[in-house]
Amino acid sequence: MTRRRKVADKPDVKVPKGVKTTDDLDRSPYRIKIGKKHDKALFRSMKGQGKRRYLFGYRVQQTATSMWVIERMLASYRPDVIIELGTGFGVLTAHFSVYGMFSDFDVEVISIDLTPSKMKDNIEAINGGQTQLLQRDIYDPETVKMLQDKLNKAKRPFILVDGKDPKSTEVNLYAKGLKEGVVMFAHDACLDGNKSIPWGFKESKIDWTLVNRLEPFYTWAVEGDTRLLCMVTKK
Ligand SMILES: C[S@@+](CC[C@H](N)C(=O)[O-])C[C@H]1O[C@@H](n2cnc3c(N)ncnc32)[C@H](O)[C@@H]1O
Repeated sequence: MTRRRKVADKPDVKVPKGVKTTDDLDRSPYRIKIGKKHDKALFRSMKGQGKRRYLFGYRVQQTATSMWVIERMLASYRPDVIIELGTGFGVLTAHFSVYGMFSDFDVEVISIDLTPSKMKDNIEAINGGQTQLLQRDIYDPETVKMLQDKLNKAKRPFILVDGKDPKSTEVNLYAKGLKEGVVMFAHDACLDGNKSIPWGFKESKIDWTLVNRLEPFYTWAVEGDTRLLCMVTKK
């Protein structure tokens, strides 16, 4: 008998008035189609390896190099508060939650999106009740304040900026109210010297009076035409 794992039902989706998102609203995470023969399924996944990345059997919206940088950060910095702006399917949130579950200290994980992941309930159950997937607008002033307070109170705060393009706007908005020393990674920085691409941001759009490059993790984690920009807030 085959047992299918239960995935949480899709919650009611209410995008706040006046907020535009071009993302499609179906938050079912992707899986590889299982072939009748295992060798075929494996071959298919190997063939697509360069294009898609998977974690826990689901597609993760990160490149292998970005995952490597994030993993190193979790291992050596060991954040106790993780904020993710933009949950997407939620597979990276699940990854953060597993990190929290295995840590020998409390790790609070908060992920924000206009559209909740279909796996919200499953993901929230991983980290002893300390993971929350909230349906909020990243730009809502109350949300900004609530998240900044969390980060400012944390010993080792981390924020992943991965919401609405251009993500430099989110970096500047959040960094403004943050204490010194908050580790901040932002997706989709245009590669230096490249002409700008629609979803990327130029590094000159970052307010460098608020953040420094975080050199040990400033790794050129390349994602097609963009990369993960690693920063830390300054005084
Ligand atoms: C690139 S995806 C996030 C991927 C995810 N961090 C991951 O690594 O798997 C960007 C997400 O930001 C969300 N988003 C865009 N604008 C937003 C806003 N104003 N408030 C909250 N979420 C927003 C989109 O709905 C989308 O799911």
